[in-house]
Amino acid sequence: FSLKPYNTFGVEAIAKYFAEVHSTEELIEILKQSDAQRLPILFLGGGSNILLTKNFDGLAILLNLQGISEEIIGENEVLVTAKAGENWHKFVLFCLSKNYGGLENLSLIPGNVGTSPMQNIGAYGIEIKDVFLSCKVLNLETLEVEIFDLEKCRFGYRDSIFKQEGKGKYVILEVTFKLSTKNHFIKTEYGAIQSELEKSGIENPSIQDISQAVINIRQSKLPDPKVRGNAGSFFKNPTIPLVEFEKLKQKFENIQGYPNGKLVKVPAGWLIEQCGWKGKKIGNVASHKLQSLVIINATGNATGKEIYDFSTMIIDSVKEKFGIELEREVNTI
Ligand code: EPU
Repeated sequence: FSLKPYNTFGVEAIAKYFAEVHSTEELIEILKQSDAQRLPILFLGGGSNILLTKNFDGLAILLNLQGISEEIIGENEVLVTAKAGENWHKFVLFCLSKNYGGLENLSLIPGNVGTSPMQNIGAYGIEIKDVFLSCKVLNLETLEVEIFDLEKCRFGYRDSIFKQEGKGKYVILEVTFKLSTKNHFIKTEYGAIQSELEKSGIENPSIQDISQAVINIRQSKLPDPKVRGNAGSFFKNPTIPLVEFEKLKQKFENIQGYPNGKLVKVPAGWLIEQCGWKGKKIGNVASHKLQSLVIINATGNATGKEIYDFSTMIIDSVKEKFGIELEREVNTI
């Protein structure tokens, strides 16, 4: 079974077995069967954060649980629950059509709802932890359903319990968000949102205006995975001690950084560009010409191994020039 349609890099990898599940019951059933056969399992969501570097000698399970439900609570709040297989952007648009606020800055992020808590997806000043109430998960050891609240998820920058101690132990079945029904909290200070709104002459933006501004910004510099395979930012933005940042600043006066106490977050895209990678192509793989943090399957024929090796070259050259070790954001399999 080809996994090419199930990863946004569009690389080829063959899974020995494949199953698509539409409910928790179906998932439990297939897990019981595969347990008897001791098959290794690979869970597939939207495929927007994985790099498949070889064939998979086990069972790939596509989590296609669908459905959205809402519950108004109090004056200004609504709880919206989406099942894991709902497409993230479609879900954001659904909330906007109902005038539910909170997810607009996260418009157009590829992937599904079920993987959004994994790495606490974030963009333009918002992370899902800001609007997250809880998620329902299947414990793979007990096959019992459990609820994880905000605290239990231990969200951090592109991080959660599901990438740490909980790695490989749970499948996220659905996620509940706490959104506003009026008096929306509008967040425009990050990045180009403000200037994008000014371009359109908007002074008092609605949540729908924010969403449109984010869509415009993303479309202007991020490649569409349907056209050029990619998985968004390939690396995390590294965090370094302030003292180290100040030393670097003496040598590289244009270096940018977002201070946070004694730490500074440095944009990886800038570091990579300074090493000469922006737009550079080797074989079938390239760094995107408008945002070097994004690695693309430039010809459509790249293998996962080629993409991985390309990313290693970037890591090595950033390490050599700046002494900073970039960490991959994409999950390599
Ligand atoms: N920059 C460069 N050269 C580049 C790319 C960026 O100099 O090739 C500079 C930009 O000029 C800017 C700074 O780096 O001053 C930051 O760039 P940008 O605003 O594009 O954001 P980012 O830090 O590169 C992060 C997220 C994105 C998210 C944007 C907007 C990470 C790893 N990435 O990118 O998330 O959309 O901020 O909030 O934190 C993703 O995770 O897949 C993703 C796309």
